[in-house]
Amino acid sequence: MSISKSIFGTLDDGKEVELYTITNKSGASVSLMTLGGGIQSLKVPDKNGILGDVVLGFDEVKHYVNPDFGYQGLLVGRFANRIRDGKFTIDGTTYNTPKNQGTWTLHGGGRFSFSIWQVKETTDNSVSFEFFSPDMEDGFGGNFTLTVKYTFTDDNILRLDYTVLSDKKTVANPTNHTYFNLSCDGGKTIENHLLQVNADKFTETDSSQLPTGELGEVEGTMLDFRQLHKIGDKINEPFRAVLDDVGYDNNYCLYNKEFGKMAQAAILADEESGRKLEVWTDLPGIQLYCGGWLEKTGTIGKANSPVTYRRGVALETQFYPDSVNHPNFPFEYVEPDKEFKTTTQFRFSVM
Ligand code: BGC
Repeated sequence: MSISKSIFGTLDDGKEVELYTITNKSGASVSLMTLGGGIQSLKVPDKNGILGDVVLGFDEVKHYVNPDFGYQGLLVGRFANRIRDGKFTIDGTTYNTPKNQGTWTLHGGGRFSFSIWQVKETTDNSVSFEFFSPDMEDGFGGNFTLTVKYTFTDDNILRLDYTVLSDKKTVANPTNHTYFNLSCDGGKTIENHLLQVNADKFTETDSSQLPTGELGEVEGTMLDFRQLHKIGDKINEPFRAVLDDVGYDNNYCLYNKEFGKMAQAAILADEESGRKLEVWTDLPGIQLYCGGWLEKTGTIGKANSPVTYRRGVALETQFYPDSVNHPNFPFEYVEPDKEFKTTTQFRFSVM
């Protein structure tokens, strides 16, 4: 294992973004940037041992801070996904968070994703990033530190260990917003990728994609991925919890609801290249998002890999969206001065 450091680029405000690349014994590598603590590149072998970059992204750093480009590869804090009306209550105190999309909060307002993180520690196979947010910043309570340690192994596992520390009872729902395309072919969407999601229920949503509080059964619907099958099989079907033309952008309620217990959440595979990704997590939910809000055409993207409609699959491990407003959803608060930890792994192999 080895690690190297370079300068990735400079943002319009003059801030420099660093890039740390961890390479394992077979040459597979991950490049992690200080901007949003994000995954900028992830090169893993296909069935013939050929390395390919399986994540969407950009060569130019400035595109990463444009929310219209979909939070490519970035970490998300304090609270991933949606908070209805940008409002929730803890022990009688109401907190008002940014309405950065419609009438709700999306991805905590974006601050954690679009800021530079501090590098706390590096080893030959890991990088730890840290971001501090003071009490009541963006309306969230507690002097709050999120540390994310990325570890890459010789058997192509990328592990994300999240640690939160706050001096006040508060909420956290950190995730990583990488879009995968295992074909490494810039001409291909993800519709031919095979997907399995280990969930029999999903969070029902209204016309603004906000949870209603009900849990729906996947059985008999386009959301049923209990068996490995092509994403494109039913992506255009009309369905009450899917917006026309957007396709999959839904939270699944994983079989495993015991927070803190690691289990397999999803499998993504590309038959042609043979590349396979397993997502493991100790969280109860996962957002399946296929980039249905991205522009249909456009050329900005690494090499010949455009960041456009349905070109990548995001598998965002999380507490269910808007958990803070639904006592029936599984959730754990961050208690004062007590470390809150969660882990997600992206395990790569070949079929
Ligand atoms: C959301 C999408 C959103 C995307 C990029 C996903 O987590 O569910 O609706 O477009 O993030 O912000």
